[in-house]
Amino acid sequence: MPRTEPIKAVRGVRDILPDQRGLWRVAEQAAANVARRFGYREIVTPLIEYRELIERLGEETDAVAKELYGFEDRGGRHLALRPEATAGVVRAYFEGGLNQRPQPARLYLIGPMFRYDRPQKGRYRQFFQFNVEAIGGASPALDAEVIELARAWLLESGLSDLTLDLNSIGDDKCRPAYLGLLREYYRPLKEKLHPDCQKRLEVNPLRLLDCKVPQDQPFKAGAPRITDHLCDDCQAAWVMVRRLLDEAAIKYNLNPYLVRGLDYYTRTVFEFYPTSSSGQQDTVGGGGRYDGLAEAEGWPSTPGVGFAGGLDRVTELMAAAGEEVIVEPAAEVAVLPDAELVAEAAEVARLARALRSVIVDFEPRSLRAKMRAADKLGVRWALLLGAADAKRRVAQLRDMTTGEQAEVAWSELPERLA
Ligand code: HAM
Repeated sequence: MPRTEPIKAVRGVRDILPDQRGLWRVAEQAAANVARRFGYREIVTPLIEYRELIERLGEETDAVAKELYGFEDRGGRHLALRPEATAGVVRAYFEGGLNQRPQPARLYLIGPMFRYDRPQKGRYRQFFQFNVEAIGGASPALDAEVIELARAWLLESGLSDLTLDLNSIGDDKCRPAYLGLLREYYRPLKEKLHPDCQKRLEVNPLRLLDCKVPQDQPFKAGAPRITDHLCDDCQAAWVMVRRLLDEAAIKYNLNPYLVRGLDYYTRTVFEFYPTSSSGQQDTVGGGGRYDGLAEAEGWPSTPGVGFAGGLDRVTELMAAAGEEVIVEPAAEVAVLPDAELVAEAAEVARLARALRSVIVDFEPRSLRAKMRAADKLGVRWALLLGAADAKRRVAQLRDMTTGEQAEVAWSELPERLA
């Protein structure tokens, strides 16, 4: 009897097994390819950051207020596992001197993020994102570029049935007055709102617009829309982004209730979700402009715009769409020696590896069992090695698809496997 129960993975996190990695690699390769075509260079930032950096995303943000993996290290530092990448990428842009290079810096990052949310299908506590960030450029053309890049990635990953929602949420100049109007509109309705939304009304009224509670839905239609209250600069940007998307033949849906879950956005915000779904809970990716984030982190005021797509959800949709990925066999050649021929088998493998991927079956089992295992692994050739053959430095090369078998000298292996 085992002394303890086997120890399983932590709640809300997953393993990606070798047979599944193929699908992930397709999505990651598509990300790297599309990023390269748009001139975005890869950056890797740490999974841990100072908690304070993450808190600059906005203390009212769910990812910070409710879902943060915060901890104290042995040196008493208050750290957090990153819930998203943008804060760290902006930090690295300044710390690494990318702000001194030609602007904007076009960057991309693929890696895990952590949020302590209630796990369910498509929502994990460790999940993976493909992020792109264009930092140091204020042109609305960059907003359209990031959207075009994101869309190209999703298409190249095989997801075509997606809807793009678009909105502008203004900036420091026009948003305060709009929030005043929004509060004015909702205040007389306060008693009828869900308690969470009553709280939002005071601390973060913009989030009233993306409230999902059924009882609050009827009030939304009459609420003032921020796109009717943009200042001149925000309005000009809003017109330009849509014009550029139109010219790129990118379809979008104007969604006045799209405000996004992170508090750092200004102007353009957008999300992609499966057309058949009801919306935001299945979002495969989203982003927007964050012109105030650098300053919130304590750096000089610097504009930026970006996107993050969820690889977990993208690969799930790819699988559901029946996207076939050929599972690569672990190796092309399996060396199947008699039990005592360990050194000889290793030598044969070494010779064959000059050209092919090779595994050796060192297990103490019959040749029949070894053949069966090699077949299951999908190898193309088996190299059978018995004592008499080994003395003569030959082996039996078996083609696993045709079943043909022929003697081959070790020295000739590279050409026979070519
Ligand atoms: P976000 O909307 O919080 O944005 O996350 C982007 C995507 O990550 C989501 O659309 C979803 O596909 C995926 N995702 C988020 N949480 C989870 C989860 N718990 N499990 C699985 N997938 C998840 C951001 O993170 C921003 N930093 C995007 C951005 C970049 N904005 C500007 N630059």
